[in-house]
Amino acid sequence: MADKRIMLISGARPNFMKIAPLLRALDARPGFTTRLVHTGQHYDEDMAQSFFRDLGMRPPDIDLEVGSASHAVQTGRIMILFDELLDREHADLVLVVGDVNSTIACALVAVKRGIPVAHVEAGLRSRDRAMPEEINRILTDSISDLLFTTEESAAPNLRAEGIAAEKIHFAGNVMVDTLFHHRREAAGIPLPAVPEPFALVTLHRPSNVDDPASLQRAVSILADSARTIPLVFPVHPRTAAKLRETGLRETLENTPGVHLLPPANYLTFVRLLLAARVVLTDSGGIQEESTALGIPCITLRENTERPITVSEGTNEVCGLDRKKIATVLADILQGRGKSGRIPKLWDGKAAERIADTLAVYFDERS
Ligand code: UD1
Repeated sequence: MADKRIMLISGARPNFMKIAPLLRALDARPGFTTRLVHTGQHYDEDMAQSFFRDLGMRPPDIDLEVGSASHAVQTGRIMILFDELLDREHADLVLVVGDVNSTIACALVAVKRGIPVAHVEAGLRSRDRAMPEEINRILTDSISDLLFTTEESAAPNLRAEGIAAEKIHFAGNVMVDTLFHHRREAAGIPLPAVPEPFALVTLHRPSNVDDPASLQRAVSILADSARTIPLVFPVHPRTAAKLRETGLRETLENTPGVHLLPPANYLTFVRLLLAARVVLTDSGGIQEESTALGIPCITLRENTERPITVSEGTNEVCGLDRKKIATVLADILQGRGKSGRIPKLWDGKAAERIADTLAVYFDERS
C-alpha cells in the first residue's frame, strides 16, 4: 500500500511546538509521508524561523508567505494559496493544530476538496466569541474528521455541539511533548541577564493590548506588581506596536523593576519559564506550560479555554482585576500559592498516540 501523505500546517508561533512532535512521530513510522506547509502567518526570525531551529524541525517544505493582514484578508490569502497548492500536490489528510487563522483557513480548503482533516487541540472553549481564536476553534472542530483533545473538558464541549463521539480522541497535549523533550536542553542554556527572583510576563491578546484603555490598565497593574518582584517581559510585536502608539512603552521603560526584552526564541523562553518565580500571561499555551512545570500562573484574562490548568494546575484566572492580582501575587511570593498536579496524558507521548490513531484510521479505510 502506498504511503499516506499527511500535510501538516503551521502558521503562527504557538503552532510550531505542536507540529514538531507530530512530525517526528509520523516521520518515524512506516506508512506515512509528511509535507510541512508553513502559511507564513508569522514570518520574523524571532516569531518563526528561530523556532524551527530550536525545535529541530526541518525548514518548511512549502512556505505560502502570506504575512500579516486583517483577519479576512489573511484568512482569504491562506485559503487561495493552500487551494492552489492542493491543485499541485496530493494529500490524504490535512493536519491542523490550535486555533489561529491558518488553522481554520487550511481546514476549510481541505474539507471542501474532500480531504479528511485532523484537528489537534480540539474542543477547547472560552465561551468568549469576541476572541478571534474562539471562532476559529468552533469552526475548525465543526468540519474536522478526527478531533484530538488535550483535556477531558473538551469532549463534552464537542458533544454539545453535535460532534459524533467516534470522531473524538483524547490524546493529551502535544505542546507538553515538546516542553518535556527540550526541558533539559533549555535548562542548560545561559539565563538572559535578568534580576532574580523575577516574574515572567507575556501579553498579546487583542482584548488586552488593542484597546488603549485596557493596555493602560495592564501597564499600571504591571507597575504595581513590579514593586513586589522584578518583571521580565519579552514583548510580542503586536504589543510592541501598541505600546509605541500609545506612548506606554516609555512609561514601562521608566518603571523601576520592569525589564523589557525582544520576543524570546523557544529555548530562551523555556529557560526563563524554568527560572521564573511566577508567570503573568494572557497566552493559552503558557497557562498549559506553567501547569506542566508546576510554576504558578496568573492569567490576565477574564476566562480560559483550558480549564484543567485551573482545576488541576497552577493557574489562577484574574482578568485585569488589580486587587485580585495583587492578592494572588502576594500569596505566591509568600509561598502560599496554589500547588497543582500534571493533568492526565500530559506525559510527553501525545504525538505518538495521535500517530497510532491515524494509522488505525487509514487501516480501517484501506
Ligand atoms: C496570532 C494568533 C493568536 C496567537 C498569536 C501568537 C490568530 C487570530 N491569532 O496572533 O491566536 O496567540 O498569533 O503570537 O491567528 N507580526 C510581526 N512579525 C511576525 C508576525 C506578526 O511583526 O512574524 C506583527 C504584525 O504587525 C502583525 C501583528 O504582529 O500585524 C499581529 O500578528 P497576527 O498574526 O495578526 O496576530 P497575533 O497577535 O500574533
